[in-house]
Amino acid sequence: MAKPIYVLNGPNLNLLGSREPEVYGKETLDDVRARCERRAAALGFSIDFRQSNHEGELVAWIQEARGGAAGLIVNAGAFTHTSIAMLDALLACSVPSVEVHLSNIFTREPFRHHSYISKAVKGVICGFGAQSYELAIEALAARLATAKPS
Ligand code: DQA
Repeated sequence: MAKPIYVLNGPNLNLLGSREPEVYGKETLDDVRARCERRAAALGFSIDFRQSNHEGELVAWIQEARGGAAGLIVNAGAFTHTSIAMLDALLACSVPSVEVHLSNIFTREPFRHHSYISKAVKGVICGFGAQSYELAIEALAARLATAKPS
């Protein structure tokens, strides 16, 4: 069976919909999951969608993706700006990955302008709300379609 695209969500993203809706929108994480499932299915892929508030669990899932995933989409939440552990896990993971953010982190507080994990991903999509995830799925699907079978 074809490997899924992992969609990993970091801390506080379980609160989407009620958390600062003026910044992150009114859609819940379940709504985002449904969007991802629809978009991926239309492109011939399946997704494995997860959320954790724990850095170590996110690191373990990135390690799992080394063998289990076709690609990886990561919204690391606040760990984006702090986590060398997630950077190292992504550097050790050869499957193509995309960093996403709902908000445009570059128009926000200066501490959000730096991402530790960007160095390890193919690209970054931010600022389009829940649509950021769909754009990431499209980018990954296009890359995976042209990749040579291993
Ligand atoms: C976020 C941006 C981060 O700065 C923030 O800590 C989040 C969400 C986003 O999706 O816009 O939790 O990753």
